[in-house]
Amino acid sequence: MSRESRKLDHIKNALASGARGENGLDDIHFVHNSLPETNVKDISLNTSLAGMDLSAPLLINAMTGGGGEQTEAINGSLAEVAGQLQIPIAVGSQMAALKDPTQQESYKVVRRNNRRGKVFANVGSEAGVSDALQCAEMIEADALQVHLNTVQELIMPEGDRDFTGTLSRIEAIVRELNIPVIVKEVGFGMSREASALIQQAGAKAVDTGGSGGTSFAVIENERRERPLEFFEDWGIPTAVSIAEAESSLDIDIIGSGGIRTAYDTAKAIALGACSCGTAGQVLNWLHTKGQRGTHESLEMMMKDITLIMTAVGAADIKSLQNAPVVILGETKDWLEQRGID
Ligand code: FNR
Repeated sequence: MSRESRKLDHIKNALASGARGENGLDDIHFVHNSLPETNVKDISLNTSLAGMDLSAPLLINAMTGGGGEQTEAINGSLAEVAGQLQIPIAVGSQMAALKDPTQQESYKVVRRNNRRGKVFANVGSEAGVSDALQCAEMIEADALQVHLNTVQELIMPEGDRDFTGTLSRIEAIVRELNIPVIVKEVGFGMSREASALIQQAGAKAVDTGGSGGTSFAVIENERRERPLEFFEDWGIPTAVSIAEAESSLDIDIIGSGGIRTAYDTAKAIALGACSCGTAGQVLNWLHTKGQRGTHESLEMMMKDITLIMTAVGAADIKSLQNAPVVILGETKDWLEQRGID
């Protein structure tokens, strides 16, 4: 199967079956504040991520490109929405465009349609410095995402089998690029240990990509004759993954994996994220409601985050990160066993 048709399969399968399971955020509860001393009009959604000042704690996460006209249309629409709402947008893996330059347009459209916004480049963990530089340059990127997707590759019959040397490649990329590097998972979550190593390698942020949202195990198994079902039960749920990363060292955290609502976003921030990424939900909105509906849904999410912050008594994102929460259920068990407060 060509890489181009695999990209389109991913989109089709993500829309049909990709979102699966629990992200653990249902286990997180804000402690109601009867005396919040807040005013809706004074709530600030400003946040800082990997040294970038942002006006909202949301971003459209890496999805696509390299699949011809269809992916170019998706990227073009999402880039316009991101530009209008002034939120960052990441393109999907650009490795395809390095091998086949005719595919570059489906990525470049993101910068063309969003001239002044924050745009993130995206490479696989096999990328070297020169790949990373070319991908960043291709879209005049403000940051570079390196994605880690071991399980996805293992499920793909044609996928990578050698995962050695990743950390040293990340270190080299961090050294040579003059934009921040964000290391991300794709729906299997990031542990405390992995986050710590990524920070030591010099990355400015981790994107937890926890389980409970889009599942590449489900998506890739659809394409296998003999599905590897055990991988559908794999991964660190998003809530746990954020708490794990938060407990590691001192690195900016993008909470992601099944972020669908303002409530999810606020809880992820209360666990320590400074921003949240959403992919599958945005793709779904684009498919069902079009570009305008996607814009409205994201805008509504931001308004609802403001209301939640007002109720919590958090006038800014820093205060929301420090808001008291109670953690119950499996998330509590998980964190206890891992020795995380
Ligand atoms: C993705 N994701 C992804 N991530 C990445 O770093 N490079 C990529 O090329 C892709 N491709 C891709 C395609 C499609 C169709 C989807 C839905 C997702 C993963 C994405 O950025 C995110 O980490 C996960 O989807 C988990 O977030 P959600 O979807 O649960 O919000």
